[in-house]
Amino acid sequence: MVRICFVCLGNICRSPTAEGIFRHLLRERGLADSVVVDSAGTGAWHVGKSPDSRAAAEASRRGIELSGKARQFSSSDFDRFDYVIALDDMNASDLAEIAPSAEARNKVRLLRSFEPGAPPGASVPDPYYGGARGFEEVFDICEAACAGLLDHIEADRGIGQS
Ligand code: 4NP
Repeated sequence: MVRICFVCLGNICRSPTAEGIFRHLLRERGLADSVVVDSAGTGAWHVGKSPDSRAAAEASRRGIELSGKARQFSSSDFDRFDYVIALDDMNASDLAEIAPSAEARNKVRLLRSFEPGAPPGASVPDPYYGGARGFEEVFDICEAACAGLLDHIEADRGIGQS
């Protein structure tokens, strides 16, 4: 079993979007029973809340349902996941700071590092204070990057088609 957690700041916009898209891809590729998916935030402001209605609306428009309640990522979570996927570079550095060991720190990767053609170090932009267009952009980026991430995991773990 492969265990993966997407991490953004609030766990109400970007990481639930990535989680929903990734679950959809797993079902499409027949891998839903081989991979455990979760998401969390580095911050605690929105703990217990459902995904942001703008993120949920954009996902729904694309045929994907967002689920879960926001929670904060804690240092003990590093033991529970093989891949800790940061949505932006600030999330990645905050995660590195609370990682209890070098092994834990090595689990942290930027989501866009798996997106074909993305510039090195690219982040998924924070859509929270912007308009609907930002949520469209976040969805598009997460869709491309999640497909690349799943290709990588299939190859890395010897599961699926590749
Ligand atoms: P997320 O978006 O990190 O993609 O869930 C945000 C949600 C809330 C805030 C910032 C970003 N906030 O400042 O409350």
